[in-house]
Amino acid sequence: MKTRITELFGIRHPIIQGGMHYVGFAELAAAVSNAGGLGLITGLTQRTPELLAKEIARCRDMTDEPFGVNLTFLPTLSSPPYPEYIAAIVEGGVRIVETAGRSPEAYMPALKKAGIKVIHKCTSVRHALKAEAIGCDAVSVDGFECGGHPGEDDMPNMILLPRAAEELKIPFVASGGMADARSLVAALALGADGMNMGTRFVATQEAPVHQNVKDAIVAATELDTRLVMRGLRNTERVLTNSSVEQLIRIEKEKGADLKFDDIIDQVAGVYPRVMLQGEMDAGAWSCGMVVGLINDIPTVQELMDRIMDEAEQLITRRLSGFLEPALA
Ligand SMILES: Cc1cc2nc3c(=O)[nH]c(=O)nc-3n(C[C@H](O)[C@H](O)[C@H](O)COP(=O)(O)O)c2cc1C
Repeated sequence: MKTRITELFGIRHPIIQGGMHYVGFAELAAAVSNAGGLGLITGLTQRTPELLAKEIARCRDMTDEPFGVNLTFLPTLSSPPYPEYIAAIVEGGVRIVETAGRSPEAYMPALKKAGIKVIHKCTSVRHALKAEAIGCDAVSVDGFECGGHPGEDDMPNMILLPRAAEELKIPFVASGGMADARSLVAALALGADGMNMGTRFVATQEAPVHQNVKDAIVAATELDTRLVMRGLRNTERVLTNSSVEQLIRIEKEKGADLKFDDIIDQVAGVYPRVMLQGEMDAGAWSCGMVVGLINDIPTVQELMDRIMDEAEQLITRRLSGFLEPALA
């Protein structure tokens, strides 16, 4: 399939694997890139720029296809050494960066000077337009359904994507709630140039996370996610568990007085415990409503082939079949 996204990134299928803390290691990024999509290493999962450099080298050993790095700008006071992370990316020969969290404006000169293509992930048309204005090459538009941080506008993709298509000149991918060929074809119909998936890629053979995480995703339904940290304007969609329910109780009790410290036990240091140790109740971890559409744990290749084959069927048979035959 050829879209502006496949052209921009030099990939065969318009499917991106979004950055995911403690999931986006070299194994997954390489598997997605080898299967024709764009795999992304999650930069900050590597605790130092030196470790990121090693992870990039590991990924390069596993694939000759293009892959990228996600750089998430955190809402914390003590920020990670982003310039050093960018240096590791540039020196590692990576030419695609997914930015997220906040505007990448401060880092655009360094990224552009190194010839890096930047795709910024955002949750609103205004932020997408800002990304376009500061020179991003593409955006990933994350609807309210998404796993992780959907922002504070609560705008589902059925509205957000066509609005983005109306306003943007640069290509964009649909993100949030994307799982299969139906998602891809719908995203294209709504004006996107491809799709970005997070939760779906966690439940694959190559995702280097504990089996309990994959099993929890397969077992969950679309009713099993919760929004947390809204009171801190840092809303996150997570899979429910006993810690998340406790977190929500604390949020209700504290109301407008809620401070980050009140919920630190439920959100800090959770990812290694969940993703590596399989402690499913350790705390809040990102997960999209799309869990309701995930019923198996295929290899990345099987997943991508299935999506592309079924997308072709959907377009050439189901959709074109609705058209009345031309009058002879
Ligand atoms: C377990 C998990 C961890 C995530 N961590 C990050 C992250 O560190 N940085 C980031 O930009 N997005 C992160 N995301 C968001 C994804 O990149 C993607 O935007 C989102 O999952 C799309 O929604 P979906 O889950 O419905 O596909 C994470 C998502 C999940 C499921």
